[in-house]
Amino acid sequence: MRVIIKNNYNDCSQWAAHYVAYKIKAFRPTAKKPFVLGLPTGSTPLGMYKALIEMYQQGKLSFENVVTFNMDEYIGLDADHPQSYHYYMQENFFKHINIPKANIHMLNGMTKDYTKECELYEQSIKNYGKIHLFIGGVGEDGHIAFNEPGSSLSSRTRVKTLTQDTIVANSRFFDNDTSKVPHTVLTVGIGTVMDAEEVLIMGTGNKKARAIHHAIEGSINHMWPISILQMHQHGIILCDEEATRELRADTVCYFKDIEKQKF
Ligand code: GLP
Repeated sequence: MRVIIKNNYNDCSQWAAHYVAYKIKAFRPTAKKPFVLGLPTGSTPLGMYKALIEMYQQGKLSFENVVTFNMDEYIGLDADHPQSYHYYMQENFFKHINIPKANIHMLNGMTKDYTKECELYEQSIKNYGKIHLFIGGVGEDGHIAFNEPGSSLSSRTRVKTLTQDTIVANSRFFDNDTSKVPHTVLTVGIGTVMDAEEVLIMGTGNKKARAIHHAIEGSINHMWPISILQMHQHGIILCDEEATRELRADTVCYFKDIEKQKF
């Protein structure tokens, strides 16, 4: 596992955006051979999206041959609901870049047939071969996408019921009213994320310190879903200094030293 430790949130956002841009360009995508990117929502990736938009506006990056798959969506919120992930992605990223609409894939939380929706999503990823880079955030309880603690570490796209911890954490987007937060969601599975060629998980701020500790120093355990990243051949954790607070000092030094030696 590669662990990148940056000074602060802004530096993490810049690093993530430059990494995404580098991967897209190095791939030399075409319409027939697009670069397939897995994307998250939440507050953590906002800085990265902003930096990517700037690169596009400056003519340094094109999304014309990029295909995206988002991680998750609330059940029962339509695309116009300001807290739906459809709305979030549109407002914070898609409407500012040149990605063709047909290249965007998001789970439909308004579907009547959840099983079919999830099966089609998995199939749609397979039709492209695989996701080349899956980017994610992490919940305070170690969840990735909406795979809550106790999720099968080989799970596929499916319906999940949120834990009370996540409902409380996400209520900040719903007027701090937990009753407004949908209790069920559609989410890619942990197995779906792990199938990607490369996975980059971002965790910033001291609220994420416990999750980052379990991800890097803990043992693989379904109660800390992020810990499965230890099994990925190309897993990256990108965090700021605050999020390393629960790591041992020598763990932090070890990963910083390795990164210093890289070009
Ligand atoms: C939600 C999302 C996750 C995200 C997590 C953390 O639960 N489903 O994909 O990683 O929140 O969000 P934030 O970045 O706002 O802390």
